[in-house]
Amino acid sequence: MSTLENKVALVTGAGTGIGQASALAFARAGAKVVVSDIDPDGGKATVEAILDEGGEASFQQADVTDPGQVEALVAHAVRTFGGLHCAHNNAGVLGPSAKLVDVADADWATVLSVNLTSVFLCMKHEIAAMLGGGGGAIVNTASFSGLVAVPFASAYVASKHGVVGLTKAAAVEYGRKGIRINAVCPGTTRTQMNIQRAESSPEMAKAMTDITPMRRLAEPSEIAASVVWLCSDAASFVNGHAMPVDGGAVAQ
Ligand SMILES: NC(=O)c1ccc[n+]([C@@H]2O[C@H](COP(=O)([O-])OP(=O)(O)OC[C@H]3O[C@@H](n4cnc5c(N)ncnc54)[C@H](O)[C@@H]3O)[C@@H](O)[C@H]2O)c1
Repeated sequence: MSTLENKVALVTGAGTGIGQASALAFARAGAKVVVSDIDPDGGKATVEAILDEGGEASFQQADVTDPGQVEALVAHAVRTFGGLHCAHNNAGVLGPSAKLVDVADADWATVLSVNLTSVFLCMKHEIAAMLGGGGGAIVNTASFSGLVAVPFASAYVASKHGVVGLTKAAAVEYGRKGIRINAVCPGTTRTQMNIQRAESSPEMAKAMTDITPMRRLAEPSEIAASVVWLCSDAASFVNGHAMPVDGGAVAQ
């Protein structure tokens, strides 16, 4: 069933991993998709995959930390497909693993910029476009680390708690304008961000799956399905929610 027929969806960090799965899932739900990434090869590959399945998609390269590029990205969506109804603000980085006192100032700044300031920049322009088009739905990718802390990732944990707070702040401002804003909080997911870590040793692989009661990594498609659901009319009264999709990790 096509739940997002005639809708336009924008996904950042859509060149691989969760964002790529989300772009494909939006297209399968009937949306026209603006695929964005800082990496043009990945982004164009995602567009090709959507076109191969008979969907509609357009690539726009953007570094989500750059205000001008983010503004141009949203303008591209409106110009190309005539509006913006759904947005998945997903681009993110993990940053180096280190105890707080060893975190380099530059690494702190990068992680906060890519993971949190980018969500502010994206929402600023997406909400403006949606207000002009009668409403919409936004999903920001936080993490289970936006709900509980994990060690050796203070900048990442702080950025993702920030994404949850920013999501709620935006949701209470724009709910009355017909824009629903939620966050998805993935558990450890099988993407580039983790594959190398999982393959580094059997102990690391076990530690990564032991985090969740389901004793496995999430597949990107499982996170993507939740994002599309949050953007669909099936979630029409869900607003300001930070939804764990983590196999029960934060329920323990
Ligand atoms: N993989 C996990 O276990 C996991 C768990 C919880 C949350 N997350 C979050 O999910 C999101 C996607 O993660 P993933 O695992 O798919 O990561 P990934 O590393 O596989 O993909 C991230 C994508 O973001 C892009 N990107 C990075 N910096 C960018 C920038 N400045 N501007 C534009 N694009 C940029 C990369 O090019 C890449 O295509 C991130 O926000 C991440 O923090 C991931």
